[in-house]
Amino acid sequence: MSIEIRPARRGEAGLVLTLVRELAVYEELTHEVEATEAVLDAALFGEAPKIFGDLAFSAGTPAGVAISFLNFSTFKGRSGLYLEDIFVRPDYRGQGIGRALLRHLAQRCVREGWGRFEWAVLDWNQTAIDFYEARGATVMPDWRICRVTGAALETLAKGE
Ligand code: ACO
Repeated sequence: MSIEIRPARRGEAGLVLTLVRELAVYEELTHEVEATEAVLDAALFGEAPKIFGDLAFSAGTPAGVAISFLNFSTFKGRSGLYLEDIFVRPDYRGQGIGRALLRHLAQRCVREGWGRFEWAVLDWNQTAIDFYEARGATVMPDWRICRVTGAALETLAKGE
């Protein structure tokens, strides 16, 4: 079975969105998906791209995706790569495609001198946690994600 990992190309935002939606189904978060193909197309291929999209193919068939973007560590004084989504379609799991996607992104980090490669994972997603730890990732025990969105964001912005 041949595995190919390559950047998403113009015209593939629809495929990227399909895979992101499949991840949302797995994570039971479909109600949070507001992105459209046009929005992802602009984020991937617009004048100032905001995200990297990498697609995995198994014998030419779309099998997985990784979406990432740059962040910056003031402590390290260097950019880092934040992995927003990684997803391999169920029929293609356990064949090394997830590993190949992570390796591909890690190689980019090393090549570019980016200091950290990091992401968040849901606490019930033990399959993914085991997969990440087996790849050398540390699930940070003392960090929590803070998020302000929707009405709370409006309120914070108004200074109430
Ligand atoms: N499913 C998953 N893993 C399996 C399976 C299976 N059916 N069978 C065996 N495995 C083992 C593999 O042997 C391998 O073991 P190793 O770590 O000892 O090498 C490991 O589990 C999986 O390795 P890969 O085949 O490279 O991984 P895969 O292609 O299955 O991708 C991933 C891993 C991305 C977690 C995938 O299972 C997936 O998409 N899961 C559902 C979505 C998900 O959880 N995404 C991550 C959310 S967090 C985020 O997006 C930042």
